Amino acid sequence: MSSVEEIIGRTDPNDFDAILGMTNTDVEETIHYVEDHADCIYTWDYEKGARPQLEKLYEKAKKGQWNGETDLPWDTDVDQEKLATQEYDEVGALDAFIDFSGTGVEKWVRKDWIKFNMESQNWALSQFMHGEQGALVCTAKIVETVPWIDAKYYAATQVVDEARHVEVFSKYLDTKLSDSYPINIHLRMLLDEIVRDSRWDMTYLGMQIMVEGLALAAFGFLYQQTREPLLKQLLRYVMSDEARHVAFGVLSLKEAYAGMNQSELRERQEFAFEAALRMRDRFLQQEVWDRMGADVSKILPIVSQNPERLEFQHLLFSKIVPNCKKLGLLDAGDGWLREKFGEIGVIQYENWVDIEEEVDAFAITRELEAESALG
Ligand SMILES: [Fe+2]
Ligand SMILES: [Fe+2]
Repeated sequence: MSSVEEIIGRTDPNDFDAILGMTNTDVEETIHYVEDHADCIYTWDYEKGARPQLEKLYEKAKKGQWNGETDLPWDTDVDQEKLATQEYDEVGALDAFIDFSGTGVEKWVRKDWIKFNMESQNWALSQFMHGEQGALVCTAKIVETVPWIDAKYYAATQVVDEARHVEVFSKYLDTKLSDSYPINIHLRMLLDEIVRDSRWDMTYLGMQIMVEGLALAAFGFLYQQTREPLLKQLLRYVMSDEARHVAFGVLSLKEAYAGMNQSELRERQEFAFEAALRMRDRFLQQEVWDRMGADVSKILPIVSQNPERLEFQHLLFSKIVPNCKKLGLLDAGDGWLREKFGEIGVIQYENWVDIEEEVDAFAITRELEAESALG
């Protein structure tokens, strides 16, 4: 068993000095190395469908393939500033419900908040792109390390899904938005840790359950919120893949965890908690405030304690918590993870939507069939 300090490097999850003390020092580098300690596993058992649910998912994945270049309306004209202005005029700025007195931000005027909206979008889509590359690498690793043929087949389809996701987010940033951001340090630390771990199920837990579960919720918000038709369709298509990916994680880990003892499960609980905190920290978008010239050390404690922001932040965990429950991780042992998720305010989602139902709800098979009928 590890202490909270051993797991996340600080005793208090809300220690903002420690959170801000971590910065990305290799922002100028184009290559980042991580040592991967895992064994590559071959299986000589080729019986397809030995795990029928995985096989079913593999067949769905083959039908759900789309082409990032040709299936999205890239000729859409996107005026980011106009959209950011509209957002400001309709929704207002954060200072409508957060008191920024004494931070310098209280002096911001309309044009600063519009710029802030644009930077927030640049930042959010950049982090999605980096996270997608994490998923690309992790699923390639799963192809190598998982011992079951049905899982290798499925993971192979996910590799191409993730390549497409990196491609479309990168193209959107490049051709439609005003700027981009390097990877956030908390996200990078989490991705590094997932890749570094030698145990194949940890790649699944970190990526398929935690990172992708959160991404699915975040994409869902953005999808509801945006009126930009290209981004809306892009997210709709990405979400159709992501719902399958999370289901792949749940199906595989249910079997793997069924055979584990308490101390092995405790290690998984600790890993899930660490991932949850890293992802929460990543959503503080410290780089945006910094680029806008704000004093981040004054801003973060204020913004992160705001009840409305907190509610949004908690909602991001609405897919993760039910899946952890389904895997038995909430209550394994003495219910350590249930207690920890309670402390960070997300346990109330334990009975939310079942991911296996969402695979069909989000599927775009019908759209793709209609498209191919049109020729
Ligand atoms: Fe993805
Ligand atoms: Fe994914």
